[in-house]
This record gives sequence, structure tokens and C-alpha cells, in this order.
Amino acid sequence: KPPPPPGPLNDTSTKLVNNPAHPFLPQRNGDMRGPCPGLNTLASHGYLPRNGIATPAQIINAVQEGFNMGNDLAVFVTYAAFLVDGNQVTNLLSIGGKSSLTGPDPPKPAIVGGLDTHAVFEGDASMTRGDAFFGDNHSFKENQFDEFIAFSNKFGGGKYNLTVASEFRWQRIQESIATNPNFSFISPRYFTAYAESTFPITFFVDGRNEDGALSLDVARGFFQDSRMPNGFFRANQSIGLDIIGSLIDFIFEPHPIQPGGNQGRVNSYTVDPNSANFSQFCQLYQDFVNITVKGLYPNPQGVLRDNLNTNLGYFFSPLQGSGCPQVFPFGQ
Ligand code: HEM
Ligand code: MG
Repeated sequence: KPPPPPGPLNDTSTKLVNNPAHPFLPQRNGDMRGPCPGLNTLASHGYLPRNGIATPAQIINAVQEGFNMGNDLAVFVTYAAFLVDGNQVTNLLSIGGKSSLTGPDPPKPAIVGGLDTHAVFEGDASMTRGDAFFGDNHSFKENQFDEFIAFSNKFGGGKYNLTVASEFRWQRIQESIATNPNFSFISPRYFTAYAESTFPITFFVDGRNEDGALSLDVARGFFQDSRMPNGFFRANQSIGLDIIGSLIDFIFEPHPIQPGGNQGRVNSYTVDPNSANFSQFCQLYQDFVNITVKGLYPNPQGVLRDNLNTNLGYFFSPLQGSGCPQVFPFGQ
């Protein structure tokens, strides 16, 4: 049976995390890195296995210890990704592309393709990675980081802050509408796009810095090189669902847009009334389970089904007490 997720940190104070026990080492041949600069960095500093293949518990421990991510957010995001991109039998996930190191594949249509897999978790209009339509959804793109710099200069006085996050999130959406005929911006991507725009502020800013502004050389280190700056201290408090939720509101409010997508041609953005939006958090959870996970596993058997059920329970655990009803696509 897959082990339960780790609990919260006992000590959530800031501390040196780019430390002698966790030196940056360059990627070796075969090491997996992917679309998440947070997890890439944790692997390159040895908070995760340096080959980029990890269990859910290793990921939760690493994001808590390395960045002070709150337990509810860490558990929810890790199990969301693990359920659609990981191997439910071997309990392993690639933080990049598909890898034989996660073990034998379950029957199709399951993918087990790692975090690079498009449209189950990874999605369009990322800040520093391209849309899958253009052929590479996981590598750092200098031209997009140049825009990140330009927006930070224009709206943040040379740093990435919440105002920049809001303007740049909107810009990336507008660019995908104008250039990607297949642009999709529905749940879950609709939610993760806004959440990820907050992460550079909450997690990449040194915990001794009070101004919530990220310098551009530090940003480049994380996004491009998977590297913490020398002497880096993690956030000075645990950052969970509540804090991220209020920062998302701040980013969304100046430029609201409903979930939707282009219709096979550019500039054809159409709202999708079936997708969950920010007033429907329970539907985000329910559709993820009943549509996304169930779509990959229409009729699982044996240990696969048992482990899916166990992991779906762990995925729901941060929502206990939220008022969202738990759903059971594979029986109870
Ligand atoms: C993006 C997974 C934790 C920072 C992503 C993406 C995935 C992912 C799949 C790609 C989505 C996309 O842009 O299309 C995860 C998982 C985590 C986790 C499973 C486990 C808790 C973190 C942490 C940080 C972080 C702790 C910061 C320290 C980011 C950022 C992006 C991102 C900034 C956006 C990249 C961009 O738009 O260029 N993450 N992540 N993530 N992640 Fe993570
Ligand atoms: Mg993406």
C-alpha cells in the first residue's frame, strides 16, 4: 500500500537551504528536469533524488524543507501531479519526461509520462516555457524570459512582484490567444497558471527579504539553471493554500478572464461554461478526479485500482473540512 503523505514541518522558520548538505550540482546525462523550476531546483540541490525520479513523499518533504511550502498545498499539488503523471504501482514520478526508471507501464490510455505530459497537469501560457503546440513545453525559453524581464522593468522597478505577476500572467494569456490555435485554458490549467504566477514571489524570494520582490538574476538562476543563489534562505513562514489563494485573487482581479480556449484558429477564444472557475473550487477537485484521472484509468484492476483509491484519498485529505464532497470514481 502506498505510504501516507508526510505531515507538516515542526520548524517553519527561515533558514539557509543552499547549504553544504545540499550543494548545486549540474545535471548529469540522463537526469530528468522538466517544466517546474521549483522541483528542478530541489533535484539539482539534492533535496530530491538528483536523477529527477521521486516518490510523492520525497516531493512533499523536499518542497516543505527546501521552500517552506505548506503541507496542504504540497499534498494537494503533489498528488494531483502524481495521479496523472506518475506510476501508481511503483510509486515513482519523473519530474521531466517519460522514464523507464518509473517502472512498467499500466494499460493505456494511462500515460505515466512524467510532468512534461501535456494537458493533464502541465498546460499552456506558462511564463518561461512554451505551449506544447509549438513543440516543447518544458525547456526554458530565453525569449519568454526576456519578456519576464521587460515586464519586471516596466511594472516592478526591475523586480518581479505581485503587480508584475498580474500583468505578465495576462500578457502570456493574450499571447497564447494570438499565436496558438489550440490554446487551452480550462481547469486544472486555469487554476495552476495563476497559482504558479505567485510562486516566484512566495518561494524564490529570500526569507530574510520583506519586500516580496524577486531580483531578475535570482529569477534566472531558478528558472534557467535550477539553482538557488549562494546563501539562499527559504521563506520565513509556511506558505499554504490560504496564502496562495489570496495572492491569486490579487493577480486575477485586474484582468479577469473566464476559462476557455481557442477553437482551432488563433484569436478565437471562447469561454467554456463546463470548466470550473474560481468560484467553483470543489468542481476543480471533482472534475480532476472524475474526468482527468478517470479518463486515464477507465477501468483499473487489482493493485492498480487499490493504489489509485489510496492515492485519491491522500489527494482529498487537504480538503477534509473544506465542504467539498469526496468523490469515488473506482468505488469505495
Ligand atoms: C510550474 C509541478 C512545486 C514553482 C509547474 C508545472 C508543473 C509543476 C507540472 C508546469 C505547469 C506549466 O507551467 O505548464 C509541481 C509539483 C509540485 C510543485 C508537482 C509539488 C508540490 C513547486 C514549488 C515551486 C514551484 C515548491 C517553487 C519553489 C513553479 C513555477 C512554475 C511551476 C514558478 C511556472 C513555470 C513557468 O510558468 O515558467 N510546477 N510544482 N513549483 N512550478 Fe511547480
Ligand atoms: Mg506549460
